[in-house]
Amino acid sequence: MKRSWLPPSALIPAALGTAAAAGILARSAYERNHLTVTREEIVSERLPEAFDGFRIAFLSDLHGNGFGDDRCSALAAAVRDAHPDLILCGGDSLIVKKGKTSRISVAAALWEQLAQLRVPMYHGLGNHEIRMRDEDGYGDLWEAYSQLCRDHGMELLDNDTVKLTKEGRSVYIAALTVPKELYRSFGKAPMPDGYVGGALGPCRGFTVLMAHSPLYFDEYAAWGADLCLTGHFHGGTVRVPGLGGLMTPNYMFFPQYDRGRYEKNGSVMLLSAGLGTHSIDLRLNDPPELIVITLRHSDGPAGGTR
Ligand SMILES: [Fe+2]
Repeated sequence: MKRSWLPPSALIPAALGTAAAAGILARSAYERNHLTVTREEIVSERLPEAFDGFRIAFLSDLHGNGFGDDRCSALAAAVRDAHPDLILCGGDSLIVKKGKTSRISVAAALWEQLAQLRVPMYHGLGNHEIRMRDEDGYGDLWEAYSQLCRDHGMELLDNDTVKLTKEGRSVYIAALTVPKELYRSFGKAPMPDGYVGGALGPCRGFTVLMAHSPLYFDEYAAWGADLCLTGHFHGGTVRVPGLGGLMTPNYMFFPQYDRGRYEKNGSVMLLSAGLGTHSIDLRLNDPPELIVITLRHSDGPAGGTR
């Protein structure tokens, strides 16, 4: 019988490849479970002085991911330690897949702990919330999730605006629901002209706009948003030094926006890398983040916001 053997030199690349893959997976598992807190300051002369120092905790793309032994206390503690005046959730709190059970327990435990902070909480809709609400195949998941939010004072905003008032002066928190047709793989679908104004009405003053997709920053800024809070891109999954995020969950490579701060025509966009993952359960050089924003009033043009 004739036997063939691989020479030892041929085994070395295979062993190195296996070791590299194991190292990447181990690093990714570590990153996915280690929360970071990003602090940002927004300075604007349009912000009423009464809101100087107002603090917002912004969570996005939780996707049922947990932090800490009980899967929520570490994130709840990070939010509590930020001493927020307002908690905003940018959408995609669950992973939803047709015909499959979705893990709702992490959001349930987290909302319950955050409710104890007794500050207003608003939740915009991401593509996963739109899907479970509008499409068949998700059973009663939308009813269960929206009831959960109501039970804990997390108000779902769907093309809606709320007014916050202090000392007789107001700011606005708006949540734009980006239509599901605009969540497209491999690229950007054009947003219909006037969509933001049609959905939300005119911008009435200093406005924080939650909109899940960062692709339409031009449209959000043109509408008049002072601060846009977006997510959806998970930081680009793998961040390459000097090049940025490699790939978004909708398979856009080296996108224009991946994570961080962007400014345009007096508007600022903070794009969260999110807190969880789905489909591509990988994070490299791209830790999950909670964003803590402090608003600052300026008496004159300070740059950053209109
Ligand atoms: Fe998303």
